[in-house]
Amino acid sequence: ASVTFVTHDGEKQEVPFVEGQNLMQVATDNGVSGIDGDCGGDAACGTCHVIVEQQWAAAAGSRTVAEEQMLEMNPDCQATSRLSCQIALNAEHDGLIVNLPEFQF
Ligand code: FES
Repeated sequence: ASVTFVTHDGEKQEVPFVEGQNLMQVATDNGVSGIDGDCGGDAACGTCHVIVEQQWAAAAGSRTVAEEQMLEMNPDCQATSRLSCQIALNAEHDGLIVNLPEFQF
């Protein structure tokens, strides 16, 4: 299974994942630049922000309360914005596409 990260410049990077990983881990394990993950996945830093491609929004699930609070403070937050550490990947996410913001805050 794989997921694709699209940089702000439109460059695509497809990386493999195994079920149970979260999307931030997959990015950092595969050297995807533009995802920092400073807090290690606790929804506490906001540096793993991604904007989920519209057709994948439902599959990506909904924001947790802590995640919502972090995203509210983010000037780049969009309707399908998520903290990637809060997306636990399963088989349904094969082919997921997420966009990277220009900057992480
Ligand atoms: Fe810190 Fe996701 S890694 S909020």
